Amino acid sequence: MIAFSKHSIPKKIKKIFSDILKTGWFTHGKYTNGFENEFKKFTGAKYCTVVSSCTAGLHLSILALGLKKNSEVLVPAMSHTATSHAVEYANLKVKFLDVNPNSGNIEFTEIVKNTTKNTKAIMVVHLNGNVSDIKKIKNFCKKKKIFLIEDCAHALGTKYQNKHVGNYGISGCFSFYPTKQITTGEGGVVITNSKSFYYKIKKLKAFGIDKDIKDRKLPGKYNVKELGFNYRMTELHAAMGLLQLKNYNKFLLKRKLIAKRYIKNLSNVKEIDFIDYNKDSSYFIFPIITKLRDTLLKYLIKKKIGVSIHYATSLPFMSYYKKKYNLNKTNYKSSIIYADRNISLPVYPKLSFKEVDKICLEIKKFFNYKEK
Ligand SMILES: Cc1ncc(COP(=O)(O)O)c(C=O)c1O
Repeated sequence: MIAFSKHSIPKKIKKIFSDILKTGWFTHGKYTNGFENEFKKFTGAKYCTVVSSCTAGLHLSILALGLKKNSEVLVPAMSHTATSHAVEYANLKVKFLDVNPNSGNIEFTEIVKNTTKNTKAIMVVHLNGNVSDIKKIKNFCKKKKIFLIEDCAHALGTKYQNKHVGNYGISGCFSFYPTKQITTGEGGVVITNSKSFYYKIKKLKAFGIDKDIKDRKLPGKYNVKELGFNYRMTELHAAMGLLQLKNYNKFLLKRKLIAKRYIKNLSNVKEIDFIDYNKDSSYFIFPIITKLRDTLLKYLIKKKIGVSIHYATSLPFMSYYKKKYNLNKTNYKSSIIYADRNISLPVYPKLSFKEVDKICLEIKKFFNYKEK
């Protein structure tokens, strides 16, 4: 069986867990601080705070903007439901945008077409680790006084013009769910280059308490001026993230080599499409597009190859959003095509080139290509 994803948590984690158990210091400690510092170094962001998930980070980011109820937020129709849910949690109005049919990513033309005077923010998703023209989007947002939030759940290691993504918007939110490039089980971080935004997020993630533990003159003495949450990350989770991040450049290189190999092996299969090699993609997965998606998917599963779909339903047509917004399919044609045709092939450091070749061989067999 070739797994769809496998973690690369160094064995050293057992010793760290046992040290944490001995000290009993489960939160607010050296691993959360260490992970935040390492994450700042890796992404080049000025500020970073760990949170309990990317969804929590997106929720806090949108809340921290302080937008009026029912303000419109643009969200690509092709994403994990966490992206649009974060907007809904904050009592704002989601306005879904159709996407590029080959990459599933947000399109600048759609942003321009759908921006109204009520549009106050845009959630950009770097789907599968690929970026659309984020600089152009950033400039547009600046001109129109619209906030830009980057959902970087797939994009650890993705750069655009030499700058790590997540640094283009007011906020960049990353996920450490088990299938992601590094995992803490559940977990996430928010990066930003705005000091005031950073402090807002830090307060909101910890009940709205006004003073960090280390800043309290007397233990237990603090005040609460706003309705915050408990979206913190534990030391155990942070330790896992920190260990993996330290090795991440090596992992990222292997991801890129795997992507190159898929491209080389599959380039003559005319029944499938994929995006050209991009040295700045994080290669969260390797997406292929085919009209025979479901039959190929079933075939690969039968051959014991772990595959997935990101995502199988365009967000406006998930029952919750369908009921709430009642949107017309004709405005989301490309996202529907993408949802019907994409397959995620596995990419992770432990995946061997032999396994990549086997996956490609099975895809070629499915389409009746003879191996040379
Ligand atoms: C694009 C995208 N955004 C947000 C999330 C939510 O991340 P988390 O599970 O860390 O809350 C995911 C989850 O997989 C995702 O794929």
